[in-house]
Amino acid sequence: AKYCALSALLALACNGKTIQDRHGPRKIPDGLMFGAATASYQIEGGWDADGKTENIWDYMTHKNPCVTDDCLNGDIANDSYNQYKRDVEMMRELGLDFYRFSLSWTRILPSSFPDKINEAGIQYYNNLIDEMLRYNIEPMITLYHWDLPQKLQEMGGWTNPHIVNWFADYARVVFEHFGDRVKYWITMNEPREICYQGYGDVTKAPKLNIKGFAEYLCAKNLLVAHANAYHIYNNEFKAKFGGVIGITVSAHWYEPETENDSEIADQTMQFEWGQYLHPIFSESGDFPVSMKEKIATKSAAQSFARSRLPEFTADEVALVKGSSDFLGLNHYTTYLVNNKTSDINSVPSYYDDLGGTRYQSEDWKAAASIWLKEVPSGFYNLLTRLRNLYNNPTIMITENGFSTRGGLEDDDRIDYYVSYLDAMLDAIDEGSNIAAYAAWSLMDNFEWMRGYTERFGLYEVDYKSPQRTRTPRKSAYVYKQIIRAREIDY
Ligand code: NOJ
Repeated sequence: AKYCALSALLALACNGKTIQDRHGPRKIPDGLMFGAATASYQIEGGWDADGKTENIWDYMTHKNPCVTDDCLNGDIANDSYNQYKRDVEMMRELGLDFYRFSLSWTRILPSSFPDKINEAGIQYYNNLIDEMLRYNIEPMITLYHWDLPQKLQEMGGWTNPHIVNWFADYARVVFEHFGDRVKYWITMNEPREICYQGYGDVTKAPKLNIKGFAEYLCAKNLLVAHANAYHIYNNEFKAKFGGVIGITVSAHWYEPETENDSEIADQTMQFEWGQYLHPIFSESGDFPVSMKEKIATKSAAQSFARSRLPEFTADEVALVKGSSDFLGLNHYTTYLVNNKTSDINSVPSYYDDLGGTRYQSEDWKAAASIWLKEVPSGFYNLLTRLRNLYNNPTIMITENGFSTRGGLEDDDRIDYYVSYLDAMLDAIDEGSNIAAYAAWSLMDNFEWMRGYTERFGLYEVDYKSPQRTRTPRKSAYVYKQIIRAREIDY
């Protein structure tokens, strides 16, 4: 007996789940905001338009085009620099409450610094914001979504402690220009991907690959830069504008393979997302204890006199602790974890300090991205863990989504969204304080090292057309209906 037959309206969303798998129509609590997300380098294009200068993704892809799977880059991307009105039209078609997008640092400050503010860049974001507000769509701005000015990278980027001031200057310019109209702010998107993948590994720009050192320097400087920007907003702008500001981390759920593996599963999460959340959301204002211990022990064994994990000064602890009005969460998938150490040397970077082995089950439904499988229970487990660990913080789900290879018939994506929303509602029923949910993504876009080979959009983008024509997928209609009815049904 297929449950799908019961729901004529959303029969589209059904892909053969049995009634036991589902609870039936389910109300979404009042007040929870729905949105969709994108990021500047992934959609804007206009890489050198009107005075913009190179960021680390421009630089890396220009230097070595085939660094991406399809040898393509974000030079034009979705041409949102010119097509922003169509983007807002899509938000209206979907009925979004908010839209999360990021700003390009070098579009606003071509020299990286505030000596010269690029009026054309400011104008672009003003146009986008004003167009959204005309239709009551709330802007949610990410200050930093991976496109660091190349000039700052040449001075060490996130490994240079001066970045705290560079970021502060940039953030202040942004708050001054857009703070009157923007009430939701995110300082950083996914510190782990910035620091571990970009500095400890080669899977993101700048591909520094200085394992076990650069990634931890990055982590500390990034947290202090985040906290400093948080306080700038609070001290100089909040009274006037009254918005909220926080950080967004990526967090997987790690399920222990057996009960003997629960400690390594916990520690994996401490390394992966506790590294960034613990200093902000726990009483300690510091990195997780298990992480500090593991790195110190490893350093001693390698006869380093000190831990490779930098310490926070007392002033920094005071700055960082509590420096987020909400916890921004990007969640996609789950891994199993065990205590076997067989793959330590084959898995780079902080995993050497951490130990254990992580993998995904062949039985889980696979997306186009190799790392992404559908495990909605992991979302529920993660939300429950965050509620218990950090005293039930306000959570904004700033990304959740599923990749395909393209095509308008995306039943797998629909199934993913409905089952993840269902898991989220389970957590809300048990007390999780979730204020917002954003789908990744409004439309297909440049998926970093994967180029345009993996598609996350509710709208399909035709990269052969000059306007980068956007067409709604089946999932767009389902998402629209969920938002309109404030109910999931399948
Ligand atoms: C997280 C990142 O924030 C975003 O830029 C990326 O495209 C999605 N995950 C999908 O991988």
